[in-house]
Amino acid sequence: MTDKSQSQILVVNAGGQYCHLIARRVRESGVQARICMPERSVDNLKNVKGVIISGGPNSVYADGHPVFPDKLFKSGIPLLGICYGHQVLANAFGGHVEPGRVQEYGETLLEIIGQDTILQGLKTNEPVWMSHGDEVISAPDGFQVLARSENCKVAAMANIKQKLFGVQFHPEVEHTPCGKQIIDNFLFKVCGCELDWEIKGLVSRLEQEIRNQVGERHVLFFVSGGVDSTVAFALCTDAISPERVTGIFVDTGFMRKGEREEIEVAFSEKGWNNIRFVDASKKFLDRIKDVSNPEVKRQIIGDCFLEVQREQEVLLGLSSGRWMLGQGTIYPDTIESGGNGKAAVIKTHHNRVPAIENLIKEGLVLEPLRDFYKDEVRDIGRQIGLPEEIVSKNPFPGPGLAVRCLCSDANHKIVETDFGNTFGLKSWSVPICTVGVQGDHRSYSNLVILSGGNDLSTFSNASRKITREIRDTNRVAFLVDPKDDQVMKNAYVCRKMITKERLDLLREADAFSATLLKQEGLAAEIWQFPVVLLPLTVGHGETIALRPVLSSDAMTARHADLPLGFIRRLGQKLKAIDGVDLVLYDVTDKPPATIEWE
Ligand code: XMP
Repeated sequence: MTDKSQSQILVVNAGGQYCHLIARRVRESGVQARICMPERSVDNLKNVKGVIISGGPNSVYADGHPVFPDKLFKSGIPLLGICYGHQVLANAFGGHVEPGRVQEYGETLLEIIGQDTILQGLKTNEPVWMSHGDEVISAPDGFQVLARSENCKVAAMANIKQKLFGVQFHPEVEHTPCGKQIIDNFLFKVCGCELDWEIKGLVSRLEQEIRNQVGERHVLFFVSGGVDSTVAFALCTDAISPERVTGIFVDTGFMRKGEREEIEVAFSEKGWNNIRFVDASKKFLDRIKDVSNPEVKRQIIGDCFLEVQREQEVLLGLSSGRWMLGQGTIYPDTIESGGNGKAAVIKTHHNRVPAIENLIKEGLVLEPLRDFYKDEVRDIGRQIGLPEEIVSKNPFPGPGLAVRCLCSDANHKIVETDFGNTFGLKSWSVPICTVGVQGDHRSYSNLVILSGGNDLSTFSNASRKITREIRDTNRVAFLVDPKDDQVMKNAYVCRKMITKERLDLLREADAFSATLLKQEGLAAEIWQFPVVLLPLTVGHGETIALRPVLSSDAMTARHADLPLGFIRRLGQKLKAIDGVDLVLYDVTDKPPATIEWE
């Protein structure tokens, strides 16, 4: 008899962005999984039927890489290495790993040459998601190569006899459609796992955990009107009582147009009267008006939130020791902030700044949703009866439009390049840096602008090639109006910081874009539609970039292929707004770029 409470799969966390996704995919297949650090792996092997080693930002050759005990490889338990885990496995068994000549990010085609065990049931060519710099050049003795891709000779390998498997791509992300089949093959065909997982009773379990953690205390929540904080706040109110849970909606000045009004109506309709509205827009704007670096912006905004919280705590008369801070933090927020110890910091989320980290250490922070992804949070929201218009809202980052209003300390020239030549496109390298996640690392690199193509696939193919081959580039966008290539000779990056006027312009463009998307019946398929203002001018105004993406958990994302006719119509209307010179459309996936530009 199997002990149903035991985890059958051990996920060894090598510091990758997607480690928890692996555990989640395993659970979705009906098998319990737990995560541990490499150095603790051997102590955790009791009753385990299979081990999965995650990806990670390291190179097997770099100093300070995670140390995997030799006993793990000699345990006889089936092993699956993913991305960096694949390289770790190759290295441990005498294969050869080298820095890739061409790095691979995003979608690539997997050519299957040995359809054994874990690749059973797959087609000969399958799209898979890659994100790596290093590469396995030759598989260890006793291993056979199961698949390759255009830029990767050993994309999958196996030692069938010893039940050892490695894949360079990420089967755990949603953009690898055959990934579920691969993970299921490993769980059931290789490891012989049994089904044992059920989600029943999740809400009541979460509510009980909240009550245990809070005890007799009060909880103060910042609610932004977004899905996560609203679900966390409602769950907590249900679990405790409205008398001991207070929500504060802080108007940071970085909200979208009409957001506060929309939230006021939605909350009062629900009969919730434990929410206060605080206008702190002047404080937030004053603090970041001279700051251009996105990480510094994020830190300052996080600290401002905390100041407002302290002011409210005094106003509400909650004496020290009697309150906790509630947050709607979800799993990707912690992982991107480097929250699992080994992962690289991609972005500091406003709820993970040092002052909050200190409160967490003191046990003063309540984060009931910290282990969940957005789609799971939406399900929890539905289970506790929140209205669909709230649970299905597009995600909006805590720092709001402040991280969609890009700044520059100085004027900079832009340079025409030959990057787009292969595709018959014009291209320019623009020294405006945006954030990316490449091979599990944060990147902060240049933007390339393209022009000349007549279909989105030409632009996205060019984007893929450019971000793979041009090292200091992580994001590519095209000029929505093809005639604008005539004025690009006058274009330059101009010195701009965040001002209320720029935020108002961005608010207008954002509201306009969201409305047109909805009117034309295209909103349902889009996961999130950031609209970004960047200080790129051709003399009069600035540039608006459109960034609609498809995703289900924000860990990976595909740029949306909206109809070109719609994109051009929207572009013309946006250019008619005073202050808008150019309109761009972002054709980069995540990775290599992140969803938000900063
Ligand atoms: P990126 O841009 O890193 O974003 O691909 C992944 C998801 O997280 C959202 N995001 C945030 N959410 N606080 C939040 O609550 C933040 O500071 C923050 N920064 C990014 C982003 O909008 C996307 O949905």
